[in-house]
Amino acid sequence: MPKLYITTPTGEKHIIEAEIGCSMMEALNSESLVEGTCGGAASCGTCHVYFKDPAVAGDQTEDEGYMLEGLSDFVEVKESSRLSCQITLLDIHDGAEIVIAPEA
Ligand code: FES
Repeated sequence: MPKLYITTPTGEKHIIEAEIGCSMMEALNSESLVEGTCGGAASCGTCHVYFKDPAVAGDQTEDEGYMLEGLSDFVEVKESSRLSCQITLLDIHDGAEIVIAPEA
């Protein structure tokens, strides 16, 4: 099970483990770390995270890119920004360091 090292916008540290194949947003939401208001449709931005290592962040989907572009008016969007609902947890995510983006 991938283990994720999470830092919240206020600096709290969490370590969570989640099943391979599950949505990162759902894993974070189950620990009340993100809201995931739209249920994973890449249309709310409440699951925005920053990866410490851009190489682990993977590529944004087209819809995700549009959503992040819209969010950039309100919060910092980085090269390593992802909407966690668009990420399926894989082995590559084991040990990933993730910072939850502030609310837009
Ligand atoms: S849950 Fe809404 S954008 Fe990810």
